[in-house]
Amino acid sequence: MMNAAFAAMGLDWRYLAFDVELDDLREAILGANRLGFVGLNLTAPHKTSGLALVDLIDDSAERWGSVNTIRFEQDAERPARGLRARGLNTDVEGLMRSLAQDLGFRAAGASVVVLGAGGAGRMAALRLASEGIASLYVINRTPAKVVEVEAEVRERFPNVQFFPDLPEGPVDLVVNATSLGLRPEDPLPFDFSTHGWSPASMALDLNYQPSETPFLAAAKAAGCRTANGLGMLLHQGAVALELWTGRPAPVDVMRRALEKHIYGT
Ligand SMILES: NC(=O)c1ccc[n+]([C@@H]2O[C@H](COP(=O)([O-])OP(=O)(O)OC[C@H]3O[C@@H](n4cnc5c(N)ncnc54)[C@H](OP(=O)(O)O)[C@@H]3O)[C@@H](O)[C@H]2O)c1
Repeated sequence: MMNAAFAAMGLDWRYLAFDVELDDLREAILGANRLGFVGLNLTAPHKTSGLALVDLIDDSAERWGSVNTIRFEQDAERPARGLRARGLNTDVEGLMRSLAQDLGFRAAGASVVVLGAGGAGRMAALRLASEGIASLYVINRTPAKVVEVEAEVRERFPNVQFFPDLPEGPVDLVVNATSLGLRPEDPLPFDFSTHGWSPASMALDLNYQPSETPFLAAAKAAGCRTANGLGMLLHQGAVALELWTGRPAPVDVMRRALEKHIYGT
């Protein structure tokens, strides 16, 4: 999607993937800087480690506790020191753009279930809480992680009602932020059959392969509006591209390239 975007923007740039061990991450970031890279994306499991390895932590990374994008930029105060690495987070913005554009979700006053309290679940829960939702239900296989998210939500967003369990009736939005569904034998992360749902309820699966995951198939059968995680992947990339280039991202070009690569369509 990035290389398709570069071509559409007339940029002679390349986006390349490198497997880097955690022990080598500091040198890899420094090396990319010295080699004249414009920026980097960090993906799992390096997003949290990235916080300690950049020269400057942007608000977007500070607020959500992870770096998925680095921009090498001039330090106006110390031009002789070369470029500094600014760590940013575009995942959260990608999530919110996808919720708005793919589902028409409006956060104010909404009730939301987040399934999973790993990196993505924690981030989704906190970001949605920051948008003025009324109630937030978070469950996770490992309950200790829910306790941590609960403490953070209660401290930072005290107006949000937090429940460390499942709701008793339908809610406005259910987000699957577990990795359940990646393997055919995985159990469903949520049971949509117990309440009456309607298209006013929405379900987002952060997973996107297959395009209709079992979680989304169950949500659709129950009457909910659905979207998979491709939109979040697309939009976090579009925001990163805009940070690197200072120009609007060709989102439609990127979406077509992504769908072709992932679904072959
Ligand atoms: N679309 C996108 O752009 C995007 C972005 C980020 C992530 N994702 C997807 O979102 C998912 C979560 O990512 P992450 O970064 O949060 O990963 P993570 O930090 O490793 O968290 C994994 C989550 O899945 C849960 N889980 C894993 N196996 C389980 C099982 N057998 N039963 C119940 N729960 C289980 C974990 O529970 P425990 O805490 O108990 O282990 C945890 O909540 C992944 O599938 C990832 O591909 C998509």
